Amino acid sequence: MEERLSEAARLMAVRRRVAVLTGAGISVESGIPDFRSRGGLWERFDPAEYATIQAFRADPAKVWKMLAEMEAVLDAARPNPAHEALARLEQAGVVTGVITQNIDGLHQAAGSRKVVEFHGSHRTLSCLACGARISRNEARQRGHPPACGCGALLKPDVVFFGEPIPEGALREAYRVAASCRVMLVVGTSAEVAPANQMPWVAKQAGAAVIEVNLAPTHLTESVTDVFLEGKAGRVLQDLADRTMALVETRD
Ligand code: APR
Repeated sequence: MEERLSEAARLMAVRRRVAVLTGAGISVESGIPDFRSRGGLWERFDPAEYATIQAFRADPAKVWKMLAEMEAVLDAARPNPAHEALARLEQAGVVTGVITQNIDGLHQAAGSRKVVEFHGSHRTLSCLACGARISRNEARQRGHPPACGCGALLKPDVVFFGEPIPEGALREAYRVAASCRVMLVVGTSAEVAPANQMPWVAKQAGAAVIEVNLAPTHLTESVTDVFLEGKAGRVLQDLADRTMALVETRD
């Protein structure tokens, strides 16, 4: 592991222009369960019944049973050392952007400025009936589950299965991935397209791919150059320390 950490830090310090793709695994140490690990959200809520736009349209009150559980966890969550390490690397000019599949806003809370929210965010909610959009704080005043003034139940502005990725986010994610020299992939099973295409876009553009996860994924044997096994908090802090030390000696 020592050798691989040094190799990853060297790649990041020398090549710079590091784009990051994050998944639910980076927020597990903030108390937010991921989706597909044991005890994950999809173990308790079948995504076919709770996470598709068809399910929401058919029975929004039922989907709000899952959303309410997520809201409580999201409200209590704070950035962890993994989010903080990425913000530090952005401030040092090493990280050029974070493409996140997460809707928790923890990258921005940790200080990252260049964040692409590929699956939207839970900060605002929209009405599928009349198109109104309100903030989460305002929605809280509307009772539970939150209803629009027109009477329909509001939907968080997160991407459900069956919905398109927001146009701007899709374009910006491809731009960031196609212009990076290193892609750091953290805490994702890479099961869901098109987010899981980003490491391939980066690779085709000549980037090296570094993957941080508790266990290998299907990326590990195909597109990953350096696999760092372990919890994102500890690995990213260590990787950031080593990268910054090399950057300081080079500058
Ligand atoms: N440190 C590093 N990796 C971790 C940690 C941790 N502390 N905890 C879990 N992981 C890893 C798991 O091993 C797994 O590979 O994070 C990954 C989480 O995978 P998923 O639960 O599938 O989450 P994600 O990849 O983000 O899912 C993508 O699927 O359901 C949709 O919209 C949802 O954005 C989500 C998308």
